[in-house]
Amino acid sequence: MTHIALEWLDGRLRILDQSRLPWDQVYLECSDYREVVLAIEEMRVRGAPAIGVAAAYGIALGASGIRATGSDEFLAHLDEVMKAFAVSRPTAVNLFRSIDRMRTAARGDGIEEIQRALVDEAQRIHGEEKAATGQLSELGSELVEDGFTVLTHCNAGPLATAGYGTALGVIIAAGHRGKRVSVLATETRPLLQGARLTAWELQQEGIPVTLITDSMAGHFMQQGKVDCVIVGADRIAANGDVANKIGTYTLAVLAGENGIPFYVAAPTSTIDLSIPSGDEIPIEERSPDEVTDIRGVSLAPQGTRAANPAFDVTPNRYVSAIITEKGIVREPYVEGLGAAVSPAG
Ligand code: MRU
Repeated sequence: MTHIALEWLDGRLRILDQSRLPWDQVYLECSDYREVVLAIEEMRVRGAPAIGVAAAYGIALGASGIRATGSDEFLAHLDEVMKAFAVSRPTAVNLFRSIDRMRTAARGDGIEEIQRALVDEAQRIHGEEKAATGQLSELGSELVEDGFTVLTHCNAGPLATAGYGTALGVIIAAGHRGKRVSVLATETRPLLQGARLTAWELQQEGIPVTLITDSMAGHFMQQGKVDCVIVGADRIAANGDVANKIGTYTLAVLAGENGIPFYVAAPTSTIDLSIPSGDEIPIEERSPDEVTDIRGVSLAPQGTRAANPAFDVTPNRYVSAIITEKGIVREPYVEGLGAAVSPAG
């Protein structure tokens, strides 16, 4: 890996601007939390675990900028900072988990001690995501056999996790174990995370990648060209329903129809046991411009209406297994995911 998605630089957060990749490798140096909120909203940093880590550092940044006379005033301002992050992107549960953890960590004897505690907690969250994605990548690599072609969607690599990656982490770990693995990457309309980011990361890892449009996936599955599908997740409900990038559901149904294993790779920080099923997962609706235009070039007649749900929900019956850092979970998911998330899991 030659790039670092997120880096805490002693009071500033350095973000690799993913919206400019692969053309330009540009870093944002954020010293104000509002810049981090904007970077999340504009998907300059994206991918569920990376959003969670960026928000944690952003809250620490916000806390360091608060001028208050006492702890109560400080905590009231901190609450405003957290609220700004809470409305940045609704689907990835990692964001809300980070906010909860930062709220709990906001303790100490005086403002400076609380500010230090928040930086420490953000660094802990980042360290845990790195460790979890490293572990799940190793565990999941057992499912990838020598000679496999894996189909993946969107981007679930190091960029998306500020760690080792989830779906791509599994593929990369299989490659590091000496397995010959190749990838079919869907371009992932509308924002082309597959074409721009997955192809870029796999090229750097020396893993052969073939780019396809989203609409080609069924054809390649039917032709016997796909050995398994591995995707990431933005939120997994207690019953194993999975919210991930729009188009994931289509791939899962096609994989089921063609008898191809469909795996989801995610750290336990992406599991939301507070919701019983995927019906409760909020789906982000983004600007129609992302569908009608690509990089400022209009694809449709002026005034065309477009819908832009950023995620969809795959029912658990299509999911062959969920790869977490605590183990590979299969049906029944309620029990397996519950055990994985429990402190003893
Ligand atoms: O809208 P994005 O690019 O943030 O969506 C990202 C995805 O859907 C990823 O598959 C998911 O967050 C898993 S990242 C390891």
